[in-house]
Amino acid sequence: MSQEKPQPSIPDGDPNIGKELFTDYCGQCHALTGNNESHEAAPYLKGIVGRPAASTNFKFSKPFKESKVIWTEQNLFEFMKFPQGFIKGARHPVTVVNEQNRAHILAYLKSV
Ligand code: HEC
Repeated sequence: MSQEKPQPSIPDGDPNIGKELFTDYCGQCHALTGNNESHEAAPYLKGIVGRPAASTNFKFSKPFKESKVIWTEQNLFEFMKFPQGFIKGARHPVTVVNEQNRAHILAYLKSV
C-alpha cells in the first residue's frame, strides 16, 4: 500500500446544478460577494479557487489561519468531502459525500 496521496480526479461539473447545490448546502452561511460586513456567519467565497485559505477579512479560526492551504480545485474537492480531515482541528459543519455533487459545486465556484 502506498503512503502517497493520489490527486483525486475530479469529474466534470455543471455550474448551473452547482449553483442550486451551493444554495442548498452552503448558501445559508456563505455569501459569494462582499466584505463580510453584512454576512458575518462565514467568509465569502467569490474567487475562492486559487486563493490562499483565510485570506479575506473574515475572523477565521486558528486552524484555518495556520493551514497554509491554497484553495486549488483539488483542495476544495477534498475539503468538501471531509473538512475536519483536510484541515486539522477545523470545525466546518458541512460535508458533501457525493463526488459528482462536489464537482458541480466546484464548477459553480470556479464560475463566480
Ligand atoms: C453552517 C455554516 C456553513 C455552511 C453551511 C458551510 N460553511 Fe464553509 N465555512 C463556514 C465557516 C464559519 C467558515 C470559517 C471557518 C473557520 O474560520 O474556522 C467556513 C470556511 C469555508 C472555506 C474556507 C474559506 C477561506 O477563505 O479560506 C471554504 C472553502 C468553505 N467554507 C466552503 C464551503 C462550501 C463549498 C460549503 C457548501 C458545500 C460550505 N462551506 C458550507 C461555515 C459554513
